[in-house]
Amino acid sequence: MDSEDGSDTIHSVFENVDEGGGGIFEQREILQIDYVPSEKRIVGRDEQIEKVAEEIGPIVVGQPPNSIIIYGKTGCGKSLVAKHVSKIAKEEAENRGVRLATGYVNCQQAKGNSDALSKYGRAINPPESSMTFPARGISENEYFERVWSVLNDFYDAAIIILDEVDKLNNDDLLMALSRAGEDGSVDVPIGVIAVSNKINYREKMSERTKSSFGHNEFIFEPYDASQIREILQNRTDAFADGVLDDGVIPRAAALSAKEHGDARKAMRLLRYAGDQANKENADRVKESHLSDARASAEVDRLLELISGLPPHSKHVLIALANLTKNQPEREWFRTMKIREMYLDVCEQSGADPLSAERTRQLLNELCFLEIAGSRRGTGEGKGHYSQYTLLWDADIVLSLDA
Ligand SMILES: Nc1ncnc2c1ncn2[C@@H]1O[C@H](COP(=O)(O)OP(=O)(O)O)[C@@H](O)[C@H]1O
Ligand SMILES: [Mg+2]
Repeated sequence: MDSEDGSDTIHSVFENVDEGGGGIFEQREILQIDYVPSEKRIVGRDEQIEKVAEEIGPIVVGQPPNSIIIYGKTGCGKSLVAKHVSKIAKEEAENRGVRLATGYVNCQQAKGNSDALSKYGRAINPPESSMTFPARGISENEYFERVWSVLNDFYDAAIIILDEVDKLNNDDLLMALSRAGEDGSVDVPIGVIAVSNKINYREKMSERTKSSFGHNEFIFEPYDASQIREILQNRTDAFADGVLDDGVIPRAAALSAKEHGDARKAMRLLRYAGDQANKENADRVKESHLSDARASAEVDRLLELISGLPPHSKHVLIALANLTKNQPEREWFRTMKIREMYLDVCEQSGADPLSAERTRQLLNELCFLEIAGSRRGTGEGKGHYSQYTLLWDADIVLSLDA
């Protein structure tokens, strides 16, 4: 039903919602992180695409490929390159009459190996298959069997992208998949494209897994400001014609380049600046909208880092944030102090505290995730001790807990 001002809402609270997300955007989804742009919009990754495609290449004729692992900081195009190569491999295989299964699993969103397998199974399971991949209730082994069975029955070859693979508790899945073709578990060749935001993930891999990736490891370097500018420039059709002020993209690019050339942050800043302009009913996106966008982008990033952390890791994090906030003159805190505060946090939230050793492990885990930093100090008497510092604004951390 048309309302007086000509919009289609029946409830005025939804009046400003339209398919573009408000007057500022034409196609807001173009700025979503998981949107995969066409090849001509991908900036500065030709060489990486070529190399990844070369290793995975034999798969398009149904021959065993080399599995690869891509490392690099957040927002340097790892997921994008992995998805793009898998997409063009599928097109190429189809063109050659090879049935290629392709599936993408984000391990950050998976609750362990079984869940990751089940997600892959659902991604490749064709409509005519009678196989099912329930969310739970069957053993890890059974998930493997079902994935193998679908691959044997319906495909000639497979690609599996394991994104954020460092978020799994162990590398069993990585190893099983990268060896499956060789050890005869499955009749079709499988190419694994594994992605990790943490270069030090390598240290967590078993020797056997490392060796199955051989030398097929790629490290993606961060972008510089001009590359980020171009990446954003290629997405301006997300906005309605002429609403974007000239200074917005250069400023968003500069802010993200300062932060290790993070295209993800850049994309978020631009999207949030548009949202902010919409919220204010502004008819243009201005540089000033970027300052509000920055705060939202920070919160998002931290949420991403801590999502999936078990409750006690969060208690340890809150403890460190409390200490940091209570003692603004200090940056570094000893394990013992953090432990004391952690016990308080547990008491307040009614949780049974874990052992001191476990607390220490959780602290080191926060360091691995680059949420905290650590250093060794030397005591006055004997021995060494560890100190930790929060790498994030304590207020932002505590605001997430509220
Ligand atoms: N070279 C590039 N060209 C165009 N867009 C890019 C490029 N690299 C990254 N992006 C975009 O930036 C965002 C973050 O990239 P992503 O591949 O998710 O990074 P990573 O997986 O390394 O964290 C995505 O929205 C992606 O489309
Ligand atoms: Mg990624």
